[in-house]
Amino acid sequence: MAQTQPTRDPRLFIHNLVKRDPLTGLAEDVRKGLTAYPKRFLPKYFYDQLGSQLFEAICLLPEYYLTRAENEILERYADEIAAAVDGDKTLVEMGSGSASKTRLIIEALLRSQSELMFMPVDISATALESSSRILLQSYPRLRIEAFAADYFAGLAELGKKSRRRTLALFLGSNISNFDADEAHRFLHAMRSVLKEGDALLLGADLKKDPAMLEAAYNDALGVTSAFNLNVLARINRELGGTFDLHAFRHRAFYNEGVGRIEIYIESVLNQRVRIENLDLEVQFEKGELIHTENSYKYDMAGIARLATATGFACSRSWFDSQERFSSNLLLAA
Ligand code: AVJ
Repeated sequence: MAQTQPTRDPRLFIHNLVKRDPLTGLAEDVRKGLTAYPKRFLPKYFYDQLGSQLFEAICLLPEYYLTRAENEILERYADEIAAAVDGDKTLVEMGSGSASKTRLIIEALLRSQSELMFMPVDISATALESSSRILLQSYPRLRIEAFAADYFAGLAELGKKSRRRTLALFLGSNISNFDADEAHRFLHAMRSVLKEGDALLLGADLKKDPAMLEAAYNDALGVTSAFNLNVLARINRELGGTFDLHAFRHRAFYNEGVGRIEIYIESVLNQRVRIENLDLEVQFEKGELIHTENSYKYDMAGIARLATATGFACSRSWFDSQERFSSNLLLAA
């Protein structure tokens, strides 16, 4: 199943572990999600080529403060973060995307060591490939071994590679898609590929005024709506779906009791949708919701609890000037 893509650049190696069998992956998960009640999709299916680029656009929105807040932290503290883990390091990143924030850490590491191995894992092979090429052009002392895979498959693969001292990155509040149980399993799996003395830099968005949170997921330009509805467009493209995108709408609100933004696609009318490749017909009631994503918000106690429960010690945390976002260095204890 593990396919390896030959690339011409000797400093780049990309492993493709994304399932290509049409009866697994997207097709099977869409069948499961649309025949379940309530209906649901998995957030990893947002990130086809268009979806990955729509997410990049989200990061530029005035309402979506997360990216700018984390950037502010990394611009100010990258050297401190790099120095908090001693020796020459290998850099690992889960969910690297365009890897634009990663550059700040790469530059800090290359200020204190002569060469650097970067091992990114991302669900989007196209995002990995283009970000890798751009990074290699910028940094002649960089090498990249990349994994197109979901998080758990990527971690399993990383676990087989011998590495020097490792700094792992999980940025952008990517952890926010996990519920408490999944976050535990993820950090536990992360911890098991790290050795004592290695570290994980965990970016986590913080609980705050619901109005500010809701604005970040209901932008005026409608980019988040396009990002969300693109899942239906993707099913149309890849599985012969017949979703009329005008007959659905984006919904996002903050569930304060649980501490998460909940994102749905709402059917605006009673309708039936056929998905050719699945030989499936699905009924939607007017107002029916398909759950597409949760985005959990953290407080410092929650981060500390999660860290200690999974074999890490939260050694230091950094914040942006408005304390909207946190970057937490978790040491493998
Ligand atoms: C990539 C999971 C961090 O939850 O803020 C942004 C995804 N969804 N706008 C987030 C997202 C809608 C994002 N994460």
